[in-house]
Amino acid sequence: MKPDIVLASRPFPAIEEALAREFTCHRLYDAPDRQALLAAVGPKARGLLCFSGTRIDAALLDALPRLEIISNMGVGVDSIDLEAARRRGVVVTNTPDVVTECTADTALGLILNLLRQFPRAEAYLRAGKWATQGAYPLSAAIGGKTLGVLGLGRIGRAIARRAQAFGMAVRYHNRRPADAPFPYDPDPVSLAANADVLVVAIPGGPETQQLVGAQVLDALGPRGYLINIARGSVVDEPVLVRYLQERRIAGAGLDVYANEPHVPAELIALDNVVLLPHVGTATVETRTAMANLQLENLRLHFAGQPVRTPVA
Ligand code: 8YV
Repeated sequence: MKPDIVLASRPFPAIEEALAREFTCHRLYDAPDRQALLAAVGPKARGLLCFSGTRIDAALLDALPRLEIISNMGVGVDSIDLEAARRRGVVVTNTPDVVTECTADTALGLILNLLRQFPRAEAYLRAGKWATQGAYPLSAAIGGKTLGVLGLGRIGRAIARRAQAFGMAVRYHNRRPADAPFPYDPDPVSLAANADVLVVAIPGGPETQQLVGAQVLDALGPRGYLINIARGSVVDEPVLVRYLQERRIAGAGLDVYANEPHVPAELIALDNVVLLPHVGTATVETRTAMANLQLENLRLHFAGQPVRTPVA
């Protein structure tokens, strides 16, 4: 008999067919009555499939007493109650590695667009201002600046490699010094003080909630730039908006926000920001690889084998 699985998020199209063939799928993500669906299928569901950002809390797990595995598409598992899953003996898997390169590309894109102001320069040309008002004003160079990587994990290291290729010096902060050829700063404030560009690359969750607030931004200072490709929860967003408005930091390049998909109007109104709609992994290649890994973890589990990428 095919295992029953609950789809808490819409599956990526590339794996839809395989899911339907190998599992009995129950669509919670667009169920008109979630409670009715959970009452009907909850007692038999053995797997749950979700996308980073979909809240999987203890109340949902209570409705799925036979659940064995949560297979998440995305490396971030901050929207899953991991402790509740652990207590129930539920395996949680995510999709590390396959997200690394595209997410790092996004960080570099934000750095380039923020410092060199390419989006604004293009808007200037499109508005016909080049011919009427002359050359676009000078921007800031990347090479020679220092990048502070807050979180030198897989993605942080991939960002560091790229930044070096652009002539940036790299330093970092982790909870503990890593095996890495870069200077280590013992806390986020000293990292920010030593950096021209601070990039946030640490996981979201209770331990990193609003780690980047007034103190870190003060240390970054009026010539410093903040880049966030991790989670909006890591940054105190109202404080960031105020610091940007008051030019207490030079600018911010953001792919993630506190309350996605809602971006504060005050942020959108600013001219010293580059804002992306959480597109870090949004390429055909990466999303396909993520979905395939999500499916592989499910398959391995129900074949009685160890999953490939369990969340530690
Ligand atoms: C996705 C992500 O964009 O992997 C993650 O944790 O944040 C990205 O890969 C995300 O899954 C979309 O919500």
